[in-house]
Amino acid sequence: MSALLSGLLDAALDASIVFSFDRNGFRRHARGFEPKDLEVDLAGRTVLVTGANSGIGRAAAGGLARLGARVVLLCRDEARGREALGELERETRSRTLEVVRLDVSDLADVRRVAGLFRDGRVDALVHNAGVLPDRRVTTRDGLELTLATNLVGPFLLTSLLMPALERARGRVVHVSSGGMYTQRLDVVELFRGGGESFDGVVQYARTKRALVVLNELFAGRFAGSGVTFSAMHPGWADTPAVRTSLPRFHAVTKAILRSPEEGADTVVWLAASPAAEGRSGLFWFDRAPAATTPLPGTRETAEEMDRLEAALAAAAGLDGAPTSPAGEARGRRRRSRGS
Ligand SMILES: NC(=O)c1ccc[n+]([C@@H]2O[C@H](COP(=O)([O-])OP(=O)(O)OC[C@H]3O[C@@H](n4cnc5c(N)ncnc54)[C@H](OP(=O)(O)O)[C@@H]3O)[C@@H](O)[C@H]2O)c1
Repeated sequence: MSALLSGLLDAALDASIVFSFDRNGFRRHARGFEPKDLEVDLAGRTVLVTGANSGIGRAAAGGLARLGARVVLLCRDEARGREALGELERETRSRTLEVVRLDVSDLADVRRVAGLFRDGRVDALVHNAGVLPDRRVTTRDGLELTLATNLVGPFLLTSLLMPALERARGRVVHVSSGGMYTQRLDVVELFRGGGESFDGVVQYARTKRALVVLNELFAGRFAGSGVTFSAMHPGWADTPAVRTSLPRFHAVTKAILRSPEEGADTVVWLAASPAAEGRSGLFWFDRAPAATTPLPGTRETAEEMDRLEAALAAAAGLDGAPTSPAGEARGRRRRSRGS
């Protein structure tokens, strides 16, 4: 087949989503991966991965440990964390894995854990922990659980760890979801968390959309800091979350789901590869930048982005006033969007 025909076929398969999010999509995209990208030695580097005891987070932690990093598994359940640590040590032969307990939905816990790392160097922070609950749960901070876990906790952790990330000219990786494509940023609904008519899938997609916007906000606010901010989605990977939160989806798709390692590949690449350095504020899929708003009506306004930033600062208990670089970045965005 000519290169042109194979390129057209790839584009058509990607447009179909099911043939791009699945394992065949990964394998097709992986043919274009550059092996040298991950020929890196991360010895002496510190990487934090939330939700690292399971699924994509565990696979990402393993991939980064194989590259020599000191990997800190941030897990809400210490016993599950220790079990994953033992398995990963056997699989990777790494002796630089650690477990630290962190419930990312609990803002006091986020502050405690940030305090352990803030004065050192953090080379990469991977926000992988995520939930898709089937009913509305409120955290002790008064936030809906999906919002607290997938968005507010990560926002606070990054904000508090900025000194350590800047010292290392580090990377922040936000694990979003292809589900975010279905939602437009709506800060009022996002923080209302569905109210009495809670729909877990919709709230999950809202938080994942907001995470992609947050990535852009951070990239603007901290442009020039040396820190690279990325968001990505892993496609569809066979993990405990998919089995338990989406059992019908899992039953139909299980034969074509990616492995956790395939889902985690772009996380490892973004956290480790020189090829990803400095390409801040982008949304990635299979090591390539992806569109964020291909569906009509899903593009957020600059005002809605401002609202998100203010709502996150208030929810996380940070001083609300955005820093001047953020203000400048928002000004630039407004001008470029013509609003
Ligand atoms: N699998 C997919 O196809 C897919 C697709 C799109 C996006 N994603 C995203 O990928 C990420 C990983 O999901 P996964 O599929 O690998 O699911 P998973 O195997 O269930 O892993 C989720 C991890 O997050 C942890 N976690 C949940 N709440 C937490 C909290 N409050 N504090 C700390 N850790 C917490 C879980 O800990 P416990 O083990 O203690 O529950 C678990 O380690 C999520 O952000 C998810 O939204 C996955």
